[in-house]
Parts: sequence; C-alpha cells; structure tokens
Amino acid sequence: MSTTQLKQIQEAAAFIQSKGGVQPEVGLILGSGLGILADLIQDGISIAYEDIPHFPVSTVEGHAGELLLGTIEGRSVVLMKGRFHMYEGYGPEVTAFPVRVMKELGVKSLLVTNAAGGINTAFEQGDLMVLTDHLNLTGRNPLIGANDPALGVRFPDMSEAYSRRLRQLLKDTAASKNIPIREGVYAGLLGPTYETPAEIRMLRTLGADAVGMSTVSETIVARHAGLEVLGISCISNMAAGILDQPLSHEEVMETTERVREKFLGLVLAVIPHM
Ligand code: 6GU
Repeated sequence: MSTTQLKQIQEAAAFIQSKGGVQPEVGLILGSGLGILADLIQDGISIAYEDIPHFPVSTVEGHAGELLLGTIEGRSVVLMKGRFHMYEGYGPEVTAFPVRVMKELGVKSLLVTNAAGGINTAFEQGDLMVLTDHLNLTGRNPLIGANDPALGVRFPDMSEAYSRRLRQLLKDTAASKNIPIREGVYAGLLGPTYETPAEIRMLRTLGADAVGMSTVSETIVARHAGLEVLGISCISNMAAGILDQPLSHEEVMETTERVREKFLGLVLAVIPHM
C-alpha cells in the first residue's frame, strides 16, 4: 500500500519535472480569492491538475485547478492555484497529496493561505492573521494508515506546526511595510456548512481565533515530510453570531479581493526569505 503511495508521488513529480519548469524551493497554496499571486509568477509554466498523474480534480467555485512553476521575487516556487477540500468528498490524504509531490520536487518550506472566519472579537473583516497554531477538528488525519518511513515518522511532532522562524519573519516583514497583522490559532473544520453561533462560542472557548475548512491536513503532511510551514489567513468575514448578518461565499470572495494589495505586498516581501 505505502509503496504504491510513494510510487504515485514519484510519478506525479516526474511528470511535472518533464514539463521543464524550475526546480522549486518554496511551495505556495493559495486559498479562496487569493490566487492573484499566481499572476506575478515569472517565466512560469502551468500544468492543469487533471493532466498530472494521480492528482485529484478541484471542483469548488472560486478555485482554478492548476499547478504553476516559476520564480517570484527571484525565488523558485511551485504554486497550487486552488486546493482540495475534504468537503468536496476527498479523503484527507488526497487533499495533502500535492504537498508530498512538492516535497518530492525539492521544496523546503510551504506557505499556506486561506480565507477564514474571525472568531476573536478583536478581529475585523479584512484582517490578515499569521497562524501560530491550529486545532485539527476535522475528525480526520491524513497520516492514518500504514506509515511509509520514506515519507516521515509514524508519530510526527506537532509542537511547532507553524515555524517560529517564519512567523517572526512574517511579523517583522509586516512591521517594516506598515501592514497590520494579527496572530492566532486556526480551527480547521470539515464544512461545507459555516458554523452555528453556538459552535463559534464553543470554538472561542477552545482557544480558536479563526475558523476555516482547509489547511490543517496540508500542514500535517508538510510537517510529516519535514517542511517548514507558514500559514496566513485572510479574515474574510466574522464568524456566525458575532455580527447580526448571514455569511456567504460571495462575501468571502469580496473581502479577499479588497485586501489583495495588502496580502500581495506581505507575501512578496516574505517569499525571498522563506
Ligand atoms: Cl465563518 N467558517 C468556516 N468554516 N470557513 C470559513 C468561514 C467561516 N469564513 C470563511 N471561511
């Protein structure tokens, strides 16, 4: 079983390498509405997910399914424009497969971004938040099953899921560019429903500052693979029950569009040092 997994990773990586892009050092996974970074890739090549062996195909609106290789600010990167979510019906190991392929391509550090609901009442719509940690509340784990030691250890340490070095780098970068940045704990849930107000109160009690439907399985696999991880949430809306208004995916997309300059400025400044 695990040999098959490794073989699939290697086949996907070999196919990508055969397309003649750069050898990437940094991996980027862009969340809802944050795909604009993809427009700034230089000398890039694009590969549709559906063409890559063993890659699943993304279905949610607001997500294009392509892998890009190229340079950003002089750094060679591989960028996932659109990710896989468990609410689409994929198992957590599927949502994380591309992370393993990135590792096979030579990536050493991974930037994961997402749109998230604000739980911390000091937050405001449009804030950016660096992830200090996460709560895996999906009830799933991408590492369940036989462990292939070639991919990582059986019981991975998660005491520094999000790299202290990269978090500090992001905060310093934000300060030097006068971009306000929050920090906090991201709760990852299955979705696809947004939470009820009671669930949001529960999550706040549990120590969550923001909530979303992605990222945790990718981070788990990245840590298993020995990658350094940096996570950034765009607080696209306040979570249920905080403001007296319903939540919508349109609002999520509107907010990410509104913060694009701030988001891009920060990410572009941080990538060279990752
Ligand atoms: Cl409020 N909840 C979840 N689970 N995901 C979100 C969100 C809320 N806002 C953006 N993404």
